[in-house]
Amino acid sequence: MPETIGQEFMRRTGPRGRRLQTAQELGEPQPPLELPYDPQAPLIDLPDPLATEIQPLDVRTAIALRRSLRKYAGEPISLAELSFLLWATQGIKKVTSRPVTLRTVPSAGARHAFETLLLVNHVEGLEPGLYRFAAVEHALLRLDVPDANARITHACLEQSQVLTSAITFIWVAVVERMKYRYGQRGYRYLHLDAGHVCQNLYTAAEVIRCGVCAIAAFNDDELNGVLSLDGEEQFAIYLGSLGRQPA
Ligand SMILES: Cc1cc2nc3c(=O)[nH]c(=O)nc-3n(C[C@H](O)[C@H](O)[C@H](O)COP(=O)(O)O)c2cc1C
Repeated sequence: MPETIGQEFMRRTGPRGRRLQTAQELGEPQPPLELPYDPQAPLIDLPDPLATEIQPLDVRTAIALRRSLRKYAGEPISLAELSFLLWATQGIKKVTSRPVTLRTVPSAGARHAFETLLLVNHVEGLEPGLYRFAAVEHALLRLDVPDANARITHACLEQSQVLTSAITFIWVAVVERMKYRYGQRGYRYLHLDAGHVCQNLYTAAEVIRCGVCAIAAFNDDELNGVLSLDGEEQFAIYLGSLGRQPA
């Protein structure tokens, strides 16, 4: 018989009865560092992100130049540039013995509760469509979502920067990974974490002369539906469209 909400409350209530104990406090095993995927699915290798050729740009200039860009030059970005952007936003620097991942962005308790989906429109060497970033492997997986651009643009209230982007990053919250440690408070941390990720996309984009527009105006149910997310345990939290800066 599944546990009722009342039984779960009784089980998780701490010694002083004030706060629900988290799954971590109850000694439950932690969720995996990334969502599982079909082991038969071909992984698309990405170039070494630390080898991507970039023109030097000091941090002060990158921060000063940053703005939201919604009109892009049509040229594609390279796979090496995409690899750099994925490294800057979710790249794993280390898997510790706990194990947790340490990445290029901070995360509350190093929970790193996001998966990155990519709407690819103009990337050299990649068919347009929807992809998932496998962070541990630093590789891509192709997802089968027909008409991804039109449907995601529609779910984003027809914002044209999605349609015309070279690539749009879609960050998906995997609630269990954050709630495991922080319970209900984890929802706050998910939203804070998302800000760090998108900010790094803005900054990294400047380095390769691209621009980004953060996007949080979208129809949740529609977007989650297109991405086959249930909207509760996993949901789209934030997006960033990206393309080349116009000359
Ligand atoms: C949380 C958040 C959500 C945003 N959502 C959208 C959006 O859906 N569409 C859009 O065009 N801009 C969006 N923006 C970009 C803001 O409009 C932009 O940052 C603001 O106008 C300031 O301009 P700047 O980024 O060029 O400095 C969003 C920014 C943030 C931080």
